[in-house]
Amino acid sequence: MDDARFQELRQREFSRLDALGHVYLDYTGAGLYSEAQVRANAEMLCGSVLGNPHSRNPTSLAATNLCEDARRRVLDYFNADPALYEVVFTLNASGALKLIGEAYPWEPGGRFLLTADNHNSVNGLREFAQAHGAEVRYVPPGPELRLPALEEHLAGADRARHNLFAFPAQSNFSGVKYPLDAIGVAHEHGYHVVLDAAAFVPTNRLDLRGCAPDFVCVSFYKMFGFPTGVGVLLARRNALGELHRPWFAGGTVRFVSAQNKVHLQHVTGRAFEDGTLNYLGIAAVPAGLDFLDEIGIERINAHVMRLTEALLADMLALRHGNGAPMVRIYGPKTMETRGGTVAFNLLDPRGGLVDFRMVEQRASDAGISLRTGFFCNPGAAEFAFEYPDEDAFRCIKQLTPETFNIQVFSDCMSDHPVGAVRVSVGIASNRADLARLMEVLCSFRDGGCEAPAGTELPALATVD
Ligand SMILES: Cc1ncc(COP(=O)(O)O)c(C=O)c1O
Repeated sequence: MDDARFQELRQREFSRLDALGHVYLDYTGAGLYSEAQVRANAEMLCGSVLGNPHSRNPTSLAATNLCEDARRRVLDYFNADPALYEVVFTLNASGALKLIGEAYPWEPGGRFLLTADNHNSVNGLREFAQAHGAEVRYVPPGPELRLPALEEHLAGADRARHNLFAFPAQSNFSGVKYPLDAIGVAHEHGYHVVLDAAAFVPTNRLDLRGCAPDFVCVSFYKMFGFPTGVGVLLARRNALGELHRPWFAGGTVRFVSAQNKVHLQHVTGRAFEDGTLNYLGIAAVPAGLDFLDEIGIERINAHVMRLTEALLADMLALRHGNGAPMVRIYGPKTMETRGGTVAFNLLDPRGGLVDFRMVEQRASDAGISLRTGFFCNPGAAEFAFEYPDEDAFRCIKQLTPETFNIQVFSDCMSDHPVGAVRVSVGIASNRADLARLMEVLCSFRDGGCEAPAGTELPALATVD
């Protein structure tokens, strides 16, 4: 029943995929915009005259009103109590995280605890923490790259200091969904909590009355494709009040004196919105949220889960002629608390790894967009690929920014993968997309992993 609904949706809103022969399987990288959003945005732009929102003239006020509407709509979408949460518009999820990093009251004796499975934009917070003398600790993943028992890692934080715990609601590497009740547990142990919801919210409802993270970061293009360049930091007002911005900018202050070198910053989230907002982008956010609401995020979730279940079953059933499995999946092989992101490597008949670049090449040749590398999530990769600590350390030691070459690293790590393939399904995916992917994967059956004659692989220079 729903399959028919999603087929109709694909024809109505995403017909460009089939018209241009694309199989899009990188929804964790970016969502796709619907034609309805493009139309709504074109209508809004063609029917308005919008000026810089920092003034009081009519076109400025019109832009301000659109931004304020978007703020209310975002709070409403995430069911956030406006008395408790503020919306800070940012460039993207990374921009939201950086605001926290540069303004959190890190201090000696305080702690920054984060799961090893985190995007680099969360890992990067450790640089701020370390620079201010806070301790940085990682929580290693448990079996199937899931969150292990957390209490022992949270324990021992000095409650008189500032402590921050950061984890993803859903892994952008393995698709694992993290339990949101970890937020309350971390609070009990004296931590503020950063919830990286970037990979979760495109296919799941985040209800901020059902859980109470202090900070949440999101990129809207991941949820509904357009606009790019707009994200949000959803912050609890009391937590936001503990942040100290290291600078001010146009838009963040109420008053600045050049003579006396004093400034008074805004007391609301506006203190975190540097310069002129991306007001045309922000004005396009409500149409994206409307689009998700019209279909229903629960229905989108069910659609993505059905496709992921089929994908996992098909991949796990792939065998070489000698019976050897063709696919090694990193993370859960069942549907239990996982989303629609699947990371894997192909294996040859002897169990050796097929170079992920070769899979990417054949997929690209077939018009399939997927992702390879370690997806800006080195912690999950290190555990998924089972790097022995000492080997990885020895190999990393050989590298400097000038000489960094993943080929050297790969050779040094001999039997361990240095990258994987990631496919992720979304709102416009269908079974035909999966069938096209399976054709490519099946082309690696038996004959090993030699590149077809004439295939030039890209140099293994960077992988992320
Ligand atoms: C889980 C997660 N967090 C953060 C980010 C960073 O998002 P952006 O590049 O939009 O800032 C990503 C992007 O892939 C992600 O998947």
